Amino acid sequence: MSLYPSTGKPAINDPSAGKPAFLRVLAGETLTTPPLWMMRQAGRYLPEYRALREKAGSFLNLCYNPEMATEVTLQPIRRFGFDAAILFSDILVVPDALGQKVTFAEGEGPRLDPITVEKGLSALSSEIDLDRLRPVYETVNHVRAGLPPETALIGFCGAPWTVASYMIAGKGTPDQAPARLFAYQHPELFGQLIDLLVKSTITHLIHQIDAGAQALQIFESFAGALPPALFRRWSMEPIGRIVAAIRAQRPGVPVIVFARGAGGGVEEVAQAGIADAVGLDWTIDPWKARETIQKLRPVQGNLDPLALIAGGDVLARAVDDIREALGDGPHVFNLGHGILPQTPIAHVEQLVERVRK
Ligand code: CP3
Repeated sequence: MSLYPSTGKPAINDPSAGKPAFLRVLAGETLTTPPLWMMRQAGRYLPEYRALREKAGSFLNLCYNPEMATEVTLQPIRRFGFDAAILFSDILVVPDALGQKVTFAEGEGPRLDPITVEKGLSALSSEIDLDRLRPVYETVNHVRAGLPPETALIGFCGAPWTVASYMIAGKGTPDQAPARLFAYQHPELFGQLIDLLVKSTITHLIHQIDAGAQALQIFESFAGALPPALFRRWSMEPIGRIVAAIRAQRPGVPVIVFARGAGGGVEEVAQAGIADAVGLDWTIDPWKARETIQKLRPVQGNLDPLALIAGGDVLARAVDDIREALGDGPHVFNLGHGILPQTPIAHVEQLVERVRK
């Protein structure tokens, strides 16, 4: 038992003394109070984000401006004291750094020059342009310097399948039909794109680690569109290669794999050992996860972002249920997907208080 169960602070002789609670849980410890952060915690639900976002002009300008990106990363930490900060950037900086034209149309989401069978990968570079991404790594460095020691810093990337789905369709699509059809009809070319993304992503993550990222999260936001065989081939396999490279080149940096909508695939990810911890979306029953996934790996999740918008008793009950279900093993409290722009700040405050009570 910890001497300080309510704060999660380690006892004097504890070998993990001084290590942020978030990293202790990823290493397999069970804490009385789970560390807490929220996916998309920097964003439009915060007035201070909206003000800076307006000043930045385009969204990519904000991502590539170290001063502003640092400020935006730190905003939710100042306001709520989360246990981890996540680098403010986007999964689509990788295609951007490969030379694909990426823009964010106001109110419409991302737009890219789609990859076609005719042109293949000819419009892309064979390596990411590190000069283009330098401001991202500078941001990581500034953020680490601006964070208290007990707050961990998370670097991230999109998983190859999710990023490829944007590169092929040129935008977000229902069920990622264009990319899925492409993968069936042109598996060789699709495989080349995945290989390019694996290589580029490893480089991008290694640079984030070297700049100060202490843990990584891989966002496979569109896992739910893939049938099981394709999930293994185009999601798990390339993620496995990325994680193996990180483990070989920068051992000791934990990787969280968040495969949204994967269902039974999440347990497979845990079994395959290709994640140090696994993210749970809000459709996964935490009481089942406790008996299966959490026996294999630390888990992170999984409050429905709409329960956070609802607030009040709905929120209190949902938080308590997740804490009860997952509290006897290693658990990082989080949402089951990103926070939505219309979320009231008072409800986030209620969440923080409830998780830490
Ligand atoms: O979590 C954080 O606070 C860190 C920053 C972060 C952003 N995007 C900032 C962002 C992270 C980790 C991402 C990941 C990301 N980006 C994913 C995977 C996570 C997920 O939500 O499934 C995906 C699929 C993207 C691609 C992307 N970027 C989309 C579809 C959009 C538009 C969505 C929208 O709500 O308009 C973005 C833009 C984006 N990325 C915003 C933010 C805060 C909003 C842009 C704005 O301020 O105008």
